[in-house]
Amino acid sequence: MSEHQVTPYNNEESKKGQVTTMFDKIAPYYDFLNRLLSAGIDTIWRKKAIAKIDGEVSEVLDIATGTADLAFEIIKQHPKSIVTGVDVSNEMLEVGRKKIKKRDKTDSITLDLGDSENLQYDTDRFDAITAAFGVRNFGNLEKGLTEMHRVLKPGGQLVILEFSRPRIFPFKQLYNTYFKYVLPVIGRLTSKDPRAYQYLYESVQKFPDFENFDNILKKIGFKNTSWDSLSLGICTIYTGRK
Ligand SMILES: C[S@@+](CC[C@H](N)C(=O)[O-])C[C@H]1O[C@@H](n2cnc3c(N)ncnc32)[C@H](O)[C@@H]1O
Repeated sequence: MSEHQVTPYNNEESKKGQVTTMFDKIAPYYDFLNRLLSAGIDTIWRKKAIAKIDGEVSEVLDIATGTADLAFEIIKQHPKSIVTGVDVSNEMLEVGRKKIKKRDKTDSITLDLGDSENLQYDTDRFDAITAAFGVRNFGNLEKGLTEMHRVLKPGGQLVILEFSRPRIFPFKQLYNTYFKYVLPVIGRLTSKDPRAYQYLYESVQKFPDFENFDNILKKIGFKNTSWDSLSLGICTIYTGRK
C-alpha cells in the first residue's frame, strides 16, 4: 500500500479491501445518511450530473453504483436506456437490488459485483459511463479511469461527480468546519462505523479536484474535457469523451 494513500482504517489491508469492508458495513445506513448529511442536496447533484449526458444513450455503465441512486436518475432522464451498475461492495448492491425490485425496474437496471480497475465488459461497449462519489475510493485512480476509457465507445461520454474543496472565503471556512468536525460525529453515531465519515473528510482533502482532476482525465486520453462545480465547489461534475 502506498505510504501516502488515504484509507478508511489505516491497516495493512489494501485500500480496495478496506473500502469494500467499509461500504459493506455502512450499506444499511448509506442512503439515509446521504440525505441527512447533505440536507437532500445530493439528489440535486445527481440530477445535474446526468443532465450533462447529451443525446440518446442506449447502454450506460454506472461505476461504483453503490445503492444505485445514480442508475435510477439515468433511467429517469433517459427512459429507453439500459443501465449496468458495477460495485465492489455486495452489501451496497443488495440495498440497490431491493430498491430496483420494489420500483419494478429490473428490466432497466442490472447490478454486477466487480472492480472498476478490472472491468468485466468488452472494449468500446457503452454509450456513456457515469460515476458519482466513486473514483475517490479507487485503489489506483489512473487504472480505474483507464478501464472506464476502454469500455466506453469511441465518441461516448464520461460523466463523473465527485467531492471537491470549496475555495471561496468565507464559505470555504464554514463548510470545512462542518465537514471536518460536525459531519464525522453524525456519521459515527448513525452508521456505527467510527472511521467511515472521518475517511470521507480525509479522502476529499487529498483527492485532485477542478483543473487537477481534469488534467488526469486528459492524460488518460479523454477528449473535450470540462468541469462544472456545484454548491460553491462542494462537488464538481467532470465530463469528457473518448
Ligand atoms: C460513496 S459510494 C457512491 C455510491 C453511488 N454512486 C452514489 O452516488 O451514492 C462509493 C462506492 O464506490 C464503490 N467502490 C469503491 N471502489 C470501487 C472499485 N474499485 N470498483 C467498484 N466500486 C468501487 C464502493 O463500494 C461504494 O459503493
